[in-house]
Amino acid sequence: MKKELIDFRINGDDRGSLIALEENSNVPFDVKRVYYIFNTKDKVRRGFHAHKDLKQLAICVSGSCKFLLDDGKEKETVELNSPEQGLLLEGLIWREMFDFSKDCVLMVLADAYYDANDYIKDYKVFLKMSKNDS
Ligand code: TYD
Repeated sequence: MKKELIDFRINGDDRGSLIALEENSNVPFDVKRVYYIFNTKDKVRRGFHAHKDLKQLAICVSGSCKFLLDDGKEKETVELNSPEQGLLLEGLIWREMFDFSKDCVLMVLADAYYDANDYIKDYKVFLKMSKNDS
């Protein structure tokens, strides 16, 4: 599965911590879009899609949430619970996000503008595509 956890360098001092994200540096792509998910209601599960061609870096800047990742062969659950870590996703990966804490702010950087046509929202279509991909 094309996923990686990236540890960010913290600029910490007695005032607290600061992390800088820079494109093509600790963010390994051109950043075209940033969005964030917050105020997620209790027991909500979102996502339920894969992307045809998109790189994304997801960072839980506050609170925690979990990702179910599925490349058509294996499934994996990853918890994000620290602003010091980012989850890099690329390639054909079905994702579902769940167990959002009340204070969760999930920030996502992406290498392309929003494009509804890049989404695969039908799991059966995703499975077929992932078989052809491997
Ligand atoms: P949606 O795809 O349902 O979010 P999730 O994958 O987390 O379940 O997105 C919710 C709405 O926001 C939907 O109408 C599409 C819109 N949207 C944008 O306009 N730009 C974006 O970058 C994203 C991710 C979503």
